[in-house]
Amino acid sequence: MEMIIAANWKMHKTSAEAAAFCSEISRQEESYRGVDVVVCPPFTALPASKEALKGSAIKLGAQNTYWEDKGAFTGEIAPFMLKDLGVEYVILGHSERRHILGEDDGAVRRKLEAALKHGLTPILCVGETESERTRGETEKVLERQVSAALKDLDSKAAAGLVIAYEPVWAIGTGKAASPADAESAAALVLQIAGACLGSGVEQSLRVQYGGSVKAENIGEFVSLPSVSGALVGGASLEADSFSKLIVAAREAVTR
Ligand code: PGA
Repeated sequence: MEMIIAANWKMHKTSAEAAAFCSEISRQEESYRGVDVVVCPPFTALPASKEALKGSAIKLGAQNTYWEDKGAFTGEIAPFMLKDLGVEYVILGHSERRHILGEDDGAVRRKLEAALKHGLTPILCVGETESERTRGETEKVLERQVSAALKDLDSKAAAGLVIAYEPVWAIGTGKAASPADAESAAALVLQIAGACLGSGVEQSLRVQYGGSVKAENIGEFVSLPSVSGALVGGASLEADSFSKLIVAAREAVTR
């Protein structure tokens, strides 16, 4: 399975800035061969990004969706509206949505089902906070978050799903998880997902590591047996550093 590297821009970039970034990385895509690259701009920059990625294999992702198709939900965006803009992936349950914007496991589950129903591939984010880790609750948290999202889901519909293991304490802190910790968490995530969806399904799932990934350390993560890519925040904001990071990941797995 190809590794998947996704850029999560969070609340950064105007349409013009997004278009400039997308044109720049699509010019260099020859050097990303064999890697699925996804760019997740804010909603407002999706059309300009799509236009700038025309003719390129780089895919477009959104950072959130609502679960209803339409109705009185001021400020929300429906999955089919994202499809309409050419979006293929959607980040769900990012720790900033869970911890700053109050999204709970139930909401993440509804969003995931809605995304799958409309043919979007979810990038489901899970991960423990620093205090949960200190209390020795990492496994319990992963079990709860992954099961809440996937239990009894139709395994066919969930094929191709991406799960990002992002320890909250590693996001934007410059303090990445150790490769050993990332591997044990990713392996556990695969195991829980397999238990929820039926064994064999984990063959089609990809687990990313996320949290302070950069060109200098990505090789350590993508070489791990249970990790098939990365979700990248800060180091995805400049085309040059994101491009270097993809090339470094590719080199690490083809070495
Ligand atoms: P970071 O963010 O790479 O800046 O740590 C990762 C994320 O939030 O997805």
